[in-house]
Amino acid sequence: MNNFEFYSPTKFVFGRDTENNCGQLVKEAGGAKVLLHFGGGSVIRSGLLDRVKASLDKESIPYCELGGVQPNPRDTLVYKGIELCRNEGVDFILAVGGGSVIDSAKAIALGVPYDGDFWDFYCGKDIAKKAVPVGTVLTIAAAGSEGSGNSVITKEDGMVKRGTGSDLIKPVFSVLNPALTCTLPAYQTACGAVDIMAHVFERYFTNTKDVEITDRLCEAVLITMVNEVPKALKNPDDYEARANIMWAGMVAHNNICGVGRDQDWNSHGIEHELSGLYDCAHGAGLAVIFPAWMTFVKDHDIMRFAQIAVRLWGCRMDFADPKRTALEGIEKFKAFLTSIGMPVTFAELGAKEEDIPVLVNNFGIGEGKTGGFVALDKNDIANIYRIACKGN
Ligand code: NZQ
Ligand code: ZN
Repeated sequence: MNNFEFYSPTKFVFGRDTENNCGQLVKEAGGAKVLLHFGGGSVIRSGLLDRVKASLDKESIPYCELGGVQPNPRDTLVYKGIELCRNEGVDFILAVGGGSVIDSAKAIALGVPYDGDFWDFYCGKDIAKKAVPVGTVLTIAAAGSEGSGNSVITKEDGMVKRGTGSDLIKPVFSVLNPALTCTLPAYQTACGAVDIMAHVFERYFTNTKDVEITDRLCEAVLITMVNEVPKALKNPDDYEARANIMWAGMVAHNNICGVGRDQDWNSHGIEHELSGLYDCAHGAGLAVIFPAWMTFVKDHDIMRFAQIAVRLWGCRMDFADPKRTALEGIEKFKAFLTSIGMPVTFAELGAKEEDIPVLVNNFGIGEGKTGGFVALDKNDIANIYRIACKGN
């Protein structure tokens, strides 16, 4: 097992009606003026925003508002948020929504105390030294941003999507009420599920041997997803299924499933170019890319693919031909994705084969390689996109 540090400072407040605690939680965190940040309107329609406001009012905490965060959140709104926070003297940002709202809130949080352009942190030009504290009220189990120190923003000029990471933007608190996710359209529930599973796979495929505890934690999250997601799709109001999925989404990405070993993350990088260029849902892009990546790299460690085929998908281990087991596992994964309504080919996603050179170019590794489970060069990445065109 590799040496590691695990820092997860977020206070998680989980369960029914927990959004009514927001005022108290902001107060405990020392917030005196809040920016309420939200998306395209789901939190207004559901009445959630009003409940959060009432909770702040109860503690006499003043707030200003900035809605309109789009899925694949844009830099343009982040600039507006930074200006608003500075003008209003905001000292706490409360994100009410999904990963896009939370990531936009984190970007604003980094930008407010910074003299330069917040994008510096996303293009690797600078490292953040300060941030306004962020809290979240999560409405979709997916990105895991409620427990992560990451934020992913799309630059409208060129539609490139880039991420940054810092302990400074790990939320101070995250309110997780599974009932809030019952209003999600089936497609968004499924997209979120794929993202959660992908966050585990990125950590599962590792070259570090013998980290049994982490393998088993990963498998627990994956098995939970395979069992619970069909229940939530069949009955959107199934609170217990929603609760299991919501907590799985946090556990999948606060790195408890990744410590002690090397991780991959190439599929996420390869997908981000798709959701950057086509503005598709991140989870749907991952459904297309992940099986293709698996097909491309499987021979690097066929026993690892056979292991997950047996432990997650219940395949029979073929000791004489473990590759057969590994391939069966990848097929089962694809069948699961299809069964929950996810695309598995470029065409189903609305992506185009002729754009592959643009996607590879946007990925931006030039003549180098991107590390991970298997280091990939630009030709490998193009090949993964090509496999994704055909769906293997
Ligand atoms: O904008 P509104 O009206 O709220 O609608 C949203 C949006 O259209 C809707 N929605 C959310 N909760 C709802 C709801 N509709 C009905 N009822 C509810 N309860 O769902 C749509 C998608 O929301 P979004 O926030 O975009 O989803 P998600 O949580 O999947 O976030 C995706 C973003 O997170 C990034 C992705 O790249 C993408 O930009 N990621 C962030 C990560 C992180 N910060 O750690 C890691 C991930 O790998 C990922 O890259
Ligand atoms: Zn993701």
